[in-house]
Amino acid sequence: MIEKTINLDLCNKCGQCVKICYASRVIEFNEQGFPGFAKNAKCIFCGHCQAVCPQKAIEFKVSHLPANHVTAPAGPVTKNQDMLLLSQRSERFFKQQSVPKDKIKQLVEAMMRSPSGGNEQNRCYYILDSGIKIDALEKAVNAYYSKLEKMGSNPLLKNLLITNLAKSYMERLDIPSPYSRAQLGKYKQICQDTFENGLRPEGFRFCLGAPVVIIITSAFKKITMHRQFFNGDVRLAMAYGTLMATLQGLASCMLGLCEMAMNNEKNIPKLFNIPGTEKIQGLLAVGYGETEWTQIPLRGPSKLVWV
Ligand SMILES: Cc1cc2nc3c(=O)[nH]c(=O)nc-3n(C[C@H](O)[C@H](O)[C@H](O)COP(=O)(O)O)c2cc1C
Ligand code: SF4
Ligand code: SF4
Repeated sequence: MIEKTINLDLCNKCGQCVKICYASRVIEFNEQGFPGFAKNAKCIFCGHCQAVCPQKAIEFKVSHLPANHVTAPAGPVTKNQDMLLLSQRSERFFKQQSVPKDKIKQLVEAMMRSPSGGNEQNRCYYILDSGIKIDALEKAVNAYYSKLEKMGSNPLLKNLLITNLAKSYMERLDIPSPYSRAQLGKYKQICQDTFENGLRPEGFRFCLGAPVVIIITSAFKKITMHRQFFNGDVRLAMAYGTLMATLQGLASCMLGLCEMAMNNEKNIPKLFNIPGTEKIQGLLAVGYGETEWTQIPLRGPSKLVWV
C-alpha cells in the first residue's frame, strides 16, 4: 500500500498540490488553509502533488511491498542525462501560447521514427492546432461524458459501474482477491463518492487547454500478422512524441479520455474527416507547460522477477 503524508511544518500553504490535483480532487484545504488528503477520494498515485511541492512537504511511502515488487524512488530534478526520461511529467496546465509549425513537424517526425511491428508504420497523424478545432473536440467529448453521467442515473448500470471501478482500484492498490464484502463495500463507497461528485470538476477540459492536439490512428483494413501490435505501435509513437516535446522545451499529455470518447462516439472522428476504416489509437496534447516540477515522484510498486 502507498501512504502519502503532508508535513505541515514544511508546508507554506502555496496551494500548488491542490491545483495540480484538480481533476482527481484528492487534496483540499482545511479551515486553517493547510492542504490535506480527502478520505473518500480516489487517488491515482500520479505523484504530481509530490512533484510540484516547492517545500518537499509531500512524501509517498510504500508501507507493505509485496514479494517480488520494487519501486522507483522519488528524487530531486537534476541536470543528469537520464533526466529526459525521469523528469517526464504529464502536463495538466498549458500556456495560451501557440507552437510554431516547424516544432510540431519535428515532433511528428520523432513519432514516425519510433519502432513498429514489422516496420509497418501503420500510423496516421491528424494535427489540430487551431482553437476552433480543439474547441469542437472538447465540446464533442464533453457531450459524450455528459451522456455517460446521465446513464449513471440508472441504478443498475450505476451499481455495475461502481463495482467495476472499485475492483480496478483495489487491484491497483495490490489488495489480494477474493475481496471480502466489507472491503468491497469500503472501496465502492469511495468510488460512489467520486461518481456522485461528478466524473469531472466544474470547468474541466478534456484537452487541458492545449494549443495542439495530435490524434493518431491506425488503419484496420489491413490483414497482417502485425495487426495485434498496432495499438502498441501508436503508444510507442506517443512516447517518442512526449520525449521530443520535452527536448523541445514543450510539455505534453496523453488524452485517454478523449480517445475513449472518440472510439465510442462515431460522430466525433467524422468532425475531423477521419474515415471509419481507421481506429483512434491515441491523442497527445502538446504545448508550453505552466507547471514547475520540483521533484521526481515515487513510482510503483511493480512486480519484478529475475528469471
Ligand atoms: C494511455 C494513457 C492515457 C492517458 N489519458 C489521460 C487523460 O485523458 N487525461 C490526463 O490528464 N492524463 C492522462 N494520462 C496521463 C496519466 O494520467 C499519467 O501518465 C499518470 O498520471 C502519471 O503521471 P506522469 O505521466 O506525469 O508520470 C494518460 C496516460 C496514458 C499512458
Ligand atoms: S505544494 Fe507543498 S507547500 Fe504548497 S500547499 Fe501543498 S504541501 Fe504545502
Ligand atoms: S498522487 Fe495525484 S491524484 Fe493522488 S493526491 Fe497526489 S496529485 Fe492527487
